[in-house]
Amino acid sequence: MTPPSGRRVRHPRAQHQFLARTCSITGVGSYVPHRVLRNADLEKMVDTTDEWITTRTGIKERRLAAEHECTSDLATEAARRALQHAGVSPEAVDLIIVCTITPDMPFPATACLVQARLGATRAAAFDLEAACSGFLYGLEVGQQFVVSRTCETVLVIGAEKLSSIIDWKDRNTCVLFGDGAGAVVLQHRPHSHGLLTTVMGADGTKADALCMPGGGSRHPATPESVAARLHYLRMDGRETFKNAVTAMHQAAREALERCGLGIEDIRCIIPHQANRRIIDAVAERLGARPEQVFVNLDRYGNTSAASVVIALDEAVRSGRIQRGDLVLLVAFGAGLTWAAAIVEW
Ligand code: UT7
Repeated sequence: MTPPSGRRVRHPRAQHQFLARTCSITGVGSYVPHRVLRNADLEKMVDTTDEWITTRTGIKERRLAAEHECTSDLATEAARRALQHAGVSPEAVDLIIVCTITPDMPFPATACLVQARLGATRAAAFDLEAACSGFLYGLEVGQQFVVSRTCETVLVIGAEKLSSIIDWKDRNTCVLFGDGAGAVVLQHRPHSHGLLTTVMGADGTKADALCMPGGGSRHPATPESVAARLHYLRMDGRETFKNAVTAMHQAAREALERCGLGIEDIRCIIPHQANRRIIDAVAERLGARPEQVFVNLDRYGNTSAASVVIALDEAVRSGRIQRGDLVLLVAFGAGLTWAAAIVEW
């Protein structure tokens, strides 16, 4: 295929003969809960202002799941919408991957709960945890099953109920996050390049910058761990911010180089929606025009593993992405982890 600039796309995966089959996104869908929490509401909960949140982050409001709603509920609804978009029945799904840091419970996997709710009786199911980079990690893992012909149809879901791990007394974090879910259907589509490349990375030496210390084998739940507020998300904002800009820029640049593309060949850039200032800094370093960048964090805040795929769904439904367009997806999160992918829509 030839992008608008006339430059020929290089398909890095084509170098591997045994990976000759391509993998495309054939359906996308998302779901956010109905309840809206505005900056004005947060002003009544912690020492903050709409002005601070807006200028420092770009967030105006976020969605919160109801008490009875959990991650699998959000994930199931997003998955139904993606399957409908692809025209695929739940029985046709071979594999379900749920990317999340807020599973319904430590085990079994939330993907198994979604499998039951969908009636996807033939599907294998597992969860993947790479925080805000989770959906892009999941996209790469899912596509491996399609190109290797192990699976025909894979459902990759990013879903979070972050409100369940937010310390509503900590103004440094509680203003940033929201709940939501998005899903894609992965299949081979003839005559399409589909997913061209994915760049992934991690730096575990900075794991403390963004984490939830309690609830695992290191600090199992005890009255003391609860009293010490170990079961809430903790973040060193400045450290995370710095690393996010560098890692997202480098991952995106490497993905473009692998495909022999320039930023001008990309129709739409879908960055992880954590902070408007991070998005602007990455776009500027890439030399992107503002109209290439899709932003919806003003309405949803940071939904971690769901953020990129909710934005992708909105970009597709609003007509910002058309069949054949090249799309750059890029994310960063706890771990630290990061990833960038280029997709022919
Ligand atoms: O999704 C995973 C990736 N996550 C991210 O990428 C998030 C990365 N980090 C960020 O987005 C930003 O660092 C934040 C939005 C979290 C913070 O913005 P900042 O410009 O880095 O602020 P800061 O942490 O340097 O804090 C500046 C001041 C501090 O006061 P002092 O110490 O200067 O007196 C904070 O206490 O702002 C204060 N502050 C607030 N003030 C009002 C922090 N949170 C708030 C708040 N309202 N909600």
